[in-house]
Amino acid sequence: MPEQTHIKKRIAVFESWSKTYNQSIVDLMLKKFGVDYRDAILGVARKAAPQPGEEVLDIATGTGTVALALAEEANAECRIMGIDITQSMLDAARKNVDSTGMGDIFEFRQASAEELPFADNSYDVVTSSLALHHTNVPAVLRECHRVLRPGGRVVIADVTANRTWRCPVGAFYRLMDQLYMLGTESNDLFCQFHTQEEWMGLMRNAGFAGVEQKFFAPKHSWSRGIIIVSGAKPSA
Ligand SMILES: C[S@@+](CC[C@H](N)C(=O)[O-])C[C@H]1O[C@@H](n2cnc3c(N)ncnc32)[C@H](O)[C@@H]1O
Repeated sequence: MPEQTHIKKRIAVFESWSKTYNQSIVDLMLKKFGVDYRDAILGVARKAAPQPGEEVLDIATGTGTVALALAEEANAECRIMGIDITQSMLDAARKNVDSTGMGDIFEFRQASAEELPFADNSYDVVTSSLALHHTNVPAVLRECHRVLRPGGRVVIADVTANRTWRCPVGAFYRLMDQLYMLGTESNDLFCQFHTQEEWMGLMRNAGFAGVEQKFFAPKHSWSRGIIIVSGAKPSA
C-alpha cells in the first residue's frame, strides 16, 4: 500500500479516536499493558524537566496530555509547541489547555514528525509520547536532533516490540500479540515497533549522548512493553 494511503488511513483512525481518546487510552494502557498512563506521562515530563524560559516541542502531542504535564512541571514558565498530523487531536489539545488557564504558553500546529517545520537549533527540549511507532523512527530522531539546541534534551515514551518477536519463531508471538490487541485502536497494522535494545541504538545512531531508559515490562511475556528513553544533543 502506498505511503500516502497509510497516512490517510492513520489520520482517519486518529480523527475518530480523538473524541474518546482521553479515557480510552487510560483503559487501554492499564488493561493491555498493565501500565498506568499517568505514570508514563509524568515519567516523560519529570525526565524532561523543562526550566523557566525554555522552549519545548512535544511531537505527536495528541490531546495535549504530555504538553500539560510539561507545563505543570515548569510552573507554566516555559513555552510549549505541540505538533500532530491529526487536526481534531490538536483541537482537543487546545480545548484541554485552555480549560486550565495556562493556554497562553501553548501553540499547536498540524505537522508531520518526520518533517518538522522548525529551524535548526530552535528548542531546548523535545518530547514525544506513545506515537513514534506510527513513524519512521530514524527520520524522526534526526529531526529531533536537528531542531534541538546543543545541550538540549530529548525524552520519548513509546510502545516497544517484544524481544521474543525477533527470535526464530517470533512471528508466532507477534501473531499472539495481534490477536490480544484485536479491537483496540492500537492494533494498527502500519506500526513499526522497536525493542528496548533497538531504541538505545537508534538514539545513539541519531547522535544523542547520555542515552538512558526506563522500561515498563509487558503484562505478558510475548506482548508489548513501554519504554521511556532519553538523551541529549552534545554541546559541541
Ligand atoms: C496514541 S496518540 C499519543 C498522543 C499523546 N502523545 C499521548 O501520549 O497521549 C498518537 C498520536 O500520534 C499522532 N501521529 C501519528 N503519526 C504522526 C506523524 N507522522 N506526525 C505527527 N503526529 C503523528 C496521531 O495523530 C496521534 O495524535
